[in-house]
Amino acid sequence: RKHGVEYTRGIPADMEQVKSAQKENKQSIGRDLSDQIKAVTKDIHVRAENTELMLSYQKGQITLPQYKLLLFSLYEIYKALEQELDRHASHPGVAPIYFPQELARLESLEKDLEHFYGEEWRRRVIIPAATQRYVQRLHTIGKDNPVLLLAHAYTRYLGDLSGGQVLGKITKKSLELSSGEGVSFFSFPGVSSPNRFKQLYRSRMNSIDLAEQEREAMLEEAVRAFELNIQVFDDLQKMLSITGEAYESQHKVKTPATFLQSL
Ligand code: HEM
Repeated sequence: RKHGVEYTRGIPADMEQVKSAQKENKQSIGRDLSDQIKAVTKDIHVRAENTELMLSYQKGQITLPQYKLLLFSLYEIYKALEQELDRHASHPGVAPIYFPQELARLESLEKDLEHFYGEEWRRRVIIPAATQRYVQRLHTIGKDNPVLLLAHAYTRYLGDLSGGQVLGKITKKSLELSSGEGVSFFSFPGVSSPNRFKQLYRSRMNSIDLAEQEREAMLEEAVRAFELNIQVFDDLQKMLSITGEAYESQHKVKTPATFLQSL
């Protein structure tokens, strides 16, 4: 890969390699927001990749209940993100990175949810606490500081266009959803080349005029966005491990049948 440092799967064993990579990375960091945001989220990206959910993903061990539950959370997250982006579409900090035609995910998530849960899927949506906190954060910054929506749009959409493309292929294969039904979330028909689109997106990010304080707040918000994603993954994983015996011994009751059936 052309950029300074490659994302590593897991924690690299060789510390020398890490140090030289960091040095190289520092030297290549310019004043461009796209470089800075990538650099500050580098470590937390590794953490995100190493959550239990993402690890089981990479091993091709994603299960249907995991995926279906993840779709509910993604639906809530993109609903909030896209509502706020739409609302602030003409804000000078949003307009340059506003690409609803190319990027919007809400409709594809609705399609996928309908595929798995049927027409009545809306009644069955499960929103774990961490997902609720992420949604809340999106609305709060939409209200108080819309320029920071960029940090969230970057984290989700550029992630979807990068590692997300690999995860899409793994999902199809692991869950035998080769017809494309249930996995439209991963496909971006309006983006013919994810790499070229990412370049365009970065140049648009870099065109936004930010005061020093805003820039710092932006970098912090990007790290926060990753953190919120990690919490969502951990929360989902916890819910899924609380099945059968684990649930019974923790709560001294049987796993509610309604919960298990809903997956
Ligand atoms: C970029 C892999 C999870 C956000 C990338 C890239 C890869 C990758 C290979 C391209 C790196 C490059 O161009 O140098 C993965 C894998 C994941 C994963 C294998 C999990 C199994 C995530 C998660 C998020 C995320 C959970 C955030 C929610 C991003 C972002 C970029 C990116 C924002 C763009 C970085 C930039 O160019 O500025 N990922 N990723 N990734 N990923 Fe991930």
